[in-house]
Amino acid sequence: MPRIRILPENISNKIAAGEVVERPASVVKELVENALDARSTRITIDIKNGGRSLIQVADNGTGMNRDDALLALERYATSKITSDRDLFAIRTLGFRGEALPSIASVSRFTLITRDADSGTGTRIIVTGGRLDKVTDTGAPVGTLITIQQLFFNTPARRKFLKTVSTELGHIADGVAAMAMGHPSVRVRLRHNGKILKDWPAVGNPVDRVIDILGRDIQHRLYPLSATDNGIQLSGWIGSPDIFRSTPRGTYLYVNGRMVRDRVIRHALFSGYAGRLMKGRHPLAVLFVTVPYDEVDVNVHPTKHEVRFARPPAVHHLIATTVADTLKQNERPVWQAMPRRPAPEKVAETPPVFEPARSSSRPPAPAPSPAAAPVPSQTAGKRPAPDDFAPPHRPGPIRPPAQPPLIKETAAHRLRMIGQFKGTYILCEFVGESGVELVIVDQHAAHERIVFEELKKKYHGGKGPVQRLIIPETIELNFTEATILDRIRPDLARLGLEIAPFGQNTFIVKAVPALLGGSETAPLIREILEKTAEIGADPRPDHPLAQSLDDCLILMACHSALRARQKISEAEQRALLDQLMACDNPAHCPHGRPTWIRWTVAALEKSFGRIS
Ligand SMILES: Nc1ncnc2c1ncn2[C@@H]1O[C@H](COP(=O)(O)OP(=O)(O)O)[C@@H](O)[C@H]1O
Ligand SMILES: [Mg+2]
Repeated sequence: MPRIRILPENISNKIAAGEVVERPASVVKELVENALDARSTRITIDIKNGGRSLIQVADNGTGMNRDDALLALERYATSKITSDRDLFAIRTLGFRGEALPSIASVSRFTLITRDADSGTGTRIIVTGGRLDKVTDTGAPVGTLITIQQLFFNTPARRKFLKTVSTELGHIADGVAAMAMGHPSVRVRLRHNGKILKDWPAVGNPVDRVIDILGRDIQHRLYPLSATDNGIQLSGWIGSPDIFRSTPRGTYLYVNGRMVRDRVIRHALFSGYAGRLMKGRHPLAVLFVTVPYDEVDVNVHPTKHEVRFARPPAVHHLIATTVADTLKQNERPVWQAMPRRPAPEKVAETPPVFEPARSSSRPPAPAPSPAAAPVPSQTAGKRPAPDDFAPPHRPGPIRPPAQPPLIKETAAHRLRMIGQFKGTYILCEFVGESGVELVIVDQHAAHERIVFEELKKKYHGGKGPVQRLIIPETIELNFTEATILDRIRPDLARLGLEIAPFGQNTFIVKAVPALLGGSETAPLIREILEKTAEIGADPRPDHPLAQSLDDCLILMACHSALRARQKISEAEQRALLDQLMACDNPAHCPHGRPTWIRWTVAALEKSFGRIS
């Protein structure tokens, strides 16, 4: 008797279902994707009991005739690709031809569909993968798929289902993400007969974004768009103060498909570097468009992951565009000022702010992380986000703001009120839109100034380098060695000098003095791992640049002006001037804000003068 056999289709379908149908939300995803591929303009999703008892998706798309409907339930039956060339230029959301048979193999499944050429509709009932009944039925053009008792014949799977609210949460998140990518489609989601979401078709994508993310944040969403090397990026990113604590507020799309992609996610975080504290996630909706043949979507059965042909190019475009967009939007107060001559009283040569401690301190060795003080003045005491004055701008849809007009003299437009608790500099700012109270955290501000100074030195290749008396050897595997060879010159520019030592062995000859006497092997391995993962070129978002930045942050923190340190008025002014000259004046290197602003309206609200 032969020991190897081809599995019957009902078993192979169940195996496929194991990958494709993880939970009710995956069924919803597959069905809605099919509806979108069928060019529907209205999709309604009905759920009962978190999807355990019922999942129903109705669409007004092209529908199918009887033959196609029967074929659609066969494994590997698809209308979306015909040749292997198509496989590398996928334009639809589906293409594997396995969703319908997989779902039908683990549920009680009913399909009702009609296309425009058929006088009557078709109803097909499949129970646990067994074709039960095929009949004619009256039906509008479009498709209605009903799934009852998901996993009724796979009790092991059923056991893994979570509570109704958890499963419903996954469904709602998935539907929202798909709706975000298709604003011209009306999408409705009902649970136990009650409408949960009802997004009307909109002409302007931002309206869908706001419908989903909430109207309250619309003024803190910055539009972005850029094209480079045939790669396009568009979307919106949130001001760093409307962060989330999970990645659920990050919506990423590649050629219209919602993905969880590490390259894009990493690039997004690189763009926010220095603006978000650890563990926080930005709010972002990013649409990346690449030529169809430059992205492989056939990487995973759920099609959540993609592989780019040129990850570094994608990474670079996103990281730089996000960083630029944040930068341009961070000086709303100062940018709002009309261009006019600086007030006469301003000193021609403003005093340079040099607190004794920063200049007398040698640049190395770096202090150990344990010694880093935890600045406490802002942590946990920030006013609720609502109390912050929103930037004054008409709406989120507009081209990115111009570069600041009056960068260097901006601080002079602030009237200083004085120092509060030796820690904050209070200022009055009269902008076009009224008076604001601006509170600058002097420690955070000075940290930013020192950090950017240090960074210029190091990234310009002028940072102190420490030659190792006993060179450190490092043993790598083949892949790591190949990558290291490629990026060695760039690492050398940053002060990390590594030479080949036969086979896959290397020796470390010199390190940036900032890294101190710590072992470099773990750092190098991390750099190689990250480079392999994102394929990033040694650009500002390079992992070595980032670990150097971490050291610089520590140094900046140590040499920066403390809280509770009285400084003269001239010094306060110089501090503000230097802060304004920074690349990223709005945040300290840890990502905390350097200033907060209160409009008179916000103050009056706090005093109950206006509601
Ligand atoms: N809602 C729908 N409207 C029209 N046709 C559909 C719909 N759902 C599925 N189909 C047809 O059934 C085929 C099989 O669907 P599916 O198993 O999801 O595979 P895939 O989407 O990968 O092609 C699709 O290629 C499509 O032709
Ligand atoms: Mg499909």
